[in-house]
Amino acid sequence: MSDEIKKGLLGIVVDETEVSKVMPEINSLTYRGYAAQDLCAKCKFEEVAYLILNGELPTKKQLKKFEKEERKDRKLSKTLLDDIKKFPKKAHPMDVARTAVSIMGLEDKETKDNSPKANMRKVMRIFAKMPVALAAFYRARKGKKIISPQKNLSFSENFFHMCFGKVPNKEIVKAFDVSLILYAEHSFNVSTFTARTITSSLSDIHGAITGAIASLKGPLHGGANEEVMHMMNKIKKPENALKWINKALDNKDVVMGFGHRVYKSGDSRVPTMREYFGKVAKIKKDKKFEKIYDIVEKVMINRKNIYPNVDYPTGPTYHLMGFDTDFFTPIFVISRITGWSAHIIEQHAANKLIRPLASYRGSKHRKVLQLNQR
Ligand SMILES: CC(C)(COP(=O)(O)OP(=O)(O)OC[C@H]1O[C@@H](n2cnc3c(N)ncnc32)[C@H](O)[C@@H]1OP(=O)(O)O)[C@@H](O)C(=O)NCCC(=O)NCCS
Repeated sequence: MSDEIKKGLLGIVVDETEVSKVMPEINSLTYRGYAAQDLCAKCKFEEVAYLILNGELPTKKQLKKFEKEERKDRKLSKTLLDDIKKFPKKAHPMDVARTAVSIMGLEDKETKDNSPKANMRKVMRIFAKMPVALAAFYRARKGKKIISPQKNLSFSENFFHMCFGKVPNKEIVKAFDVSLILYAEHSFNVSTFTARTITSSLSDIHGAITGAIASLKGPLHGGANEEVMHMMNKIKKPENALKWINKALDNKDVVMGFGHRVYKSGDSRVPTMREYFGKVAKIKKDKKFEKIYDIVEKVMINRKNIYPNVDYPTGPTYHLMGFDTDFFTPIFVISRITGWSAHIIEQHAANKLIRPLASYRGSKHRKVLQLNQR
């Protein structure tokens, strides 16, 4: 057996998938065969969520049924809602998301049933409840009254309503919807692979999503959208951007929101998200972050040949929409639940325990000495 090590599983193909295809050579990403950009232009998030979970775009009738189910499942149990109110106010919302889905697993009557039908029912409950749980924490930690979900509002509209008590104009909702579509799925990234690994021991969907959330939190993965905002806040104004980024590169710092394991000449999701970032900046009459964005991007490409990833434009977009910075990655969660779930279901359908090997380089074999002899 070869002992050649591919750190970080670099370039290793570990399984097959029908969910999505990342094509860095032609800068494209498809979900179930449809280009993500095309889906952003022609669909709302619920249609794409349906596509990712079911393999086909919904007909009008199928979409209506899907939306009805999602809206019906939004209500949280009293226990979960009371728990959220008691969570430490300083807790990171990603930890709240992780804990909330764990509690949903305690409460779900079908937790142990991994059949495709039960899994789909559980997915719908997690998908519907997660935004409600996060919005409840958003309000609770500010000492504000929790706002109940509304059945006449879409997935995105309802999230704004529950966080802010109002729904913004259509263009802002569309930009949010687009960000959710772009975040929904991305093949074997760290969190999805984590979810599949957990699933491979025939564990349950709540456990797999709990683990995936923990994985997404890291700044090298989903946590990057928050780090981008911290960076922009440090830069403060466009006039500082050039000096700041050159200094960061001189110091060999990792610049968040740039680089990607798979895309080496640009992330296929960035042009669409950049366009919507511009639209939101225009509506909000705030061009400061766009200017910083462009300066930093230019230097990163010119000096390092490293391109932005999708977290670079989503960070400032969410900021302009009014969300607290530590809610950016949780927003990623409410969308990626669809991709994770599709992969969990796929893993169950053709499971093989994921168990790689390691090349041992620790101490040579030694004899145990009794405690009083050491
Ligand atoms: C995403 C990421 C982890 C990919 O990592 P990877 O495929 O393992 O690639 P590496 O980290 O080995 O990067 C290759 C080279 O580019 C450099 N590089 C990669 N991303 C960089 C970044 N964001 N800023 C500065 N340098 C970067 C590395 O320092 C390395 O340089 P070296 O060869 O001189 O050591 C990495 O690009 C990164 O840390 N990005 C910032 C975090 C981020 O935005 N994550 C969200 C991803 S969607």
